[in-house]
Parts: sequence; structure tokens; C-alpha cells
Amino acid sequence: SSTARKNADGALEVGGVDLRDLVAEHGSPAYVLDEADFRARARAFREAFADYDVYYAGKAFLCTAVARWVAEEGLCLDVCSSGELTVALRAGVDPARIGYHGNNKTVPELRRAVDAGVGRIVLDSFTEIERLAAVTTETGRTAPVMVRVTAGVEAHTHEYIATAHEDQKFGFSISSGDAFEAVRQVQEAAGLDLRGLHSHIGSQIFDTSGFEVAARRVLTLHARVSDELGVSMPEMDLGGGFGIAYTTQDDPSDPAQLATELTKIVEHECRAFDVPVPQLSVEPGRAIVGPAMCTVYEVGTVKPVGLDAGAVRTYVSVDGGMSDNIRTALYDADYSCTLASRHSDAPAVLGRVVGKHCEAGDIVVKDEFVPADIAPGDLLAVPGTGAYCRSMASNYNHALRPPVIAVRDGRATVLLRRETEDDLLATDVG
Ligand code: LLP
Repeated sequence: SSTARKNADGALEVGGVDLRDLVAEHGSPAYVLDEADFRARARAFREAFADYDVYYAGKAFLCTAVARWVAEEGLCLDVCSSGELTVALRAGVDPARIGYHGNNKTVPELRRAVDAGVGRIVLDSFTEIERLAAVTTETGRTAPVMVRVTAGVEAHTHEYIATAHEDQKFGFSISSGDAFEAVRQVQEAAGLDLRGLHSHIGSQIFDTSGFEVAARRVLTLHARVSDELGVSMPEMDLGGGFGIAYTTQDDPSDPAQLATELTKIVEHECRAFDVPVPQLSVEPGRAIVGPAMCTVYEVGTVKPVGLDAGAVRTYVSVDGGMSDNIRTALYDADYSCTLASRHSDAPAVLGRVVGKHCEAGDIVVKDEFVPADIAPGDLLAVPGTGAYCRSMASNYNHALRPPVIAVRDGRATVLLRRETEDDLLATDVG
């Protein structure tokens, strides 16, 4: 559903906006968010998971406009920090449709979430259960909660983003008995309203077998709680983590197929355990925003570097880098790029797109063929940068974080403006 296309000049247009015009007006680098594409992907999840609550995972990318779009498309919102909660509330998102995550929520953060009337708080440790119970006792309010469990599944993804095997920080282990004990404690705490179990097994996952194993284990616990504690939990969250295509060779994900498979798995297990199917929810982030954004850079230098056996690689330096996309350096992620400002008939040569930061690992696109006549002043677009690029951007080397510009029907609207050196100096008070 992307609106990106090359026009007669060979320049890339997104949302009907020529990226040359966008850069002329707003500068580069810039993140370009295709509003129609974002909304279409949100809607596709909403429609495919019609009986579910779909929580957009704001950690992938959040700003007030996006929080509004999410609400307008009928999705709920998952936040995982006080800062994200602030954005959601400022956007006017109904607090009852916000889920609050995190593995180390402080007392002030919990108090704020309770005061705001957040729809569910996902608890991650015994310490948090105690903290939240203290807050609800103090405020006389009741907090709807979910218990985050670890299903012990090895999701086939990068180690740093796999979260349901045992040796990692999130959740209560099902196999050790901690998860059952957590449910018991939540159930006994006066101000906590136990809504259900929450499982998130990792990110950028294509193979649904991990979800299948996790669902079976989570439902085993769900049924045991019903049997032994006499508590029927009305909800269950299966998390997010649905993979997307980063380069053209990858498989695209299909929400409808995913919904069918997940529902089949859960219904099958519920029948086996003879428990009613809970109200289900999922939390996609990457699959909604990832493909809807690209980053446009201007080429600054072009340097052919000799490799072994006489081969040559063309290093193309752009005006951004690991400060606006850390994923290549951090996860060895694959991206591609395309010449965005003109047509080229030149032969393709082996290239690498690198940033302007002071380290050799500052790579945006590891391996890509670029036209041999690529030159300073050309614009390059890197697709698929919507998830975890702006949200993980840094000021490394005092870089200014680029703007996020929404494009739609030929109009460009700045959602997040480019940082200025004054923004950087504002925090430097020594
Ligand atoms: N729900 C929970 C509880 C999560 O922890 C996450 C992601 C999501 C939902 C959304 O996952 P998604 O559908 O976006 O994959 N920075 C890494 C990804 C970290 C994911 C953290 N949790 C990356 O750039 O790949």
C-alpha cells in the first residue's frame, strides 16, 4: 500500500511529494512518513484482527500525530514509558485504551498511570506488584493489570530482541512457577484488577511456530489459574513482533493470515483445556510503521575503496548515519537504498552507504549496488526505516536528530521538527 513511486525524472515521490522538493524545503536527512500507508497498515490489522484489541506499540515510533492516527483508525496504544504516556495523553488518546509496559516502572510512574486511568498496566516483577498495590492503596483506586509471563520460547530473531526464552529480563517465568505465584499475589492484592496474562516472544518474527508454543504454555497457566484459584481471567495478550520485509528479498507479512493462524492456535488450546476463549489482543509496532517511512539523505562524498582480489567497493557517505539509524550497527540489520533525485543509466557497482560519524561501524546500508555515476548532491532514499530508527535515534557526535515529515496527497507536514544546536545547548547547563 506504499504510495512511493519514481516520476518521469526518475525522482522518488512519496504521498505525491517529490523528495527533491521536500529536501529543498526541509533539508536532509529527513524521515518521510507516508500517512496513507501508515493508516492502511493500521486499518489492515484492525480489520484482520476484528475480534481482538489491537495495540499499536508506540516504542516503534510515536509522536502526537501518529498517536491521533492510531486512535482514529480504531487501535489502542501500547506505551512503555512515562514519556510515551505523555505523548499519548497530549494527543488526546482515551486513557482506557492505553496499555502501560516496562520492566522497572517507578512509584511516581505507576501513580501517574493510575491517576490517568490507563486501561491496563502490565506487571513484570514481584517488586512492581508490591509497588502498584501500594499506589492503589494510597490513592484508593483500582488498577486493571496484566501479568507478563515468559513462555520459554526461542524466537528465531536477533538475541537482543528475543524476549521469551528464560535467560532475559522480561516477565515471570512460567516453568519456574513464578508466573503462577505472581497471578496469586495480584489476585490477593486489594486494588489490583487481574485482567489476564501477557506474552511477547520477540520481534521481527516470521515463523508462527513460536507463537504456537507460547500460546500453549500461556493457556496451560491460564487454565491452571482457573482450576486452582477459581479465577477466570477475561483477557490475554499475545504481544507483537510480526516481521516485515527490509529488503526486497524478504517475505512480506500478511495480517489476515497471521490473525487466522493465531486465532486457530488459541481456539484449539482453549478447547483442549476446556476454558472459554479470552478477549485477545496483539501489539504490533514494526509491522504498522516500519514500511511506512523512509529516510532521505544527501550524498556528500563518494570513495572507491580497493578490496582483495582487485574488487572495488564504492563508499557513499551521506549526511546522517548511525545517529538516525542504529539498527545496522546494533543488529546487523539489512537495508537497501535507491537513488531518489534522478534517473541513472550508469552500470551498477558494489556500494556501501555510510554515515558521517566518527567510527567505522557507522553503516546505514551494508551492501547495495549503486549507479556508478553516483555523486555528491544526489539524494538517496532508504526504505523501511519507520520502526526503531527515529525512536532509537541519538545525538551521537552532537548530531541533530532529523525531522519526521508526513506526506499525503501532495502535501508535506512536519510532525517532528529537525533539532537545532540550541536544542542541544539547552540541556548543557554546566
Ligand atoms: N509488545 C511488547 C511488550 C514489546 O516489547 C514490543 C517490542 C512490541 C509489543 C512490539 O514489537 P514489534 O511488533 O514492533 O516487533 N529495537 C528493536 C526492537 C525491539 C522490540 C522491543 N519490544 C529493533 O529495532 O528491531
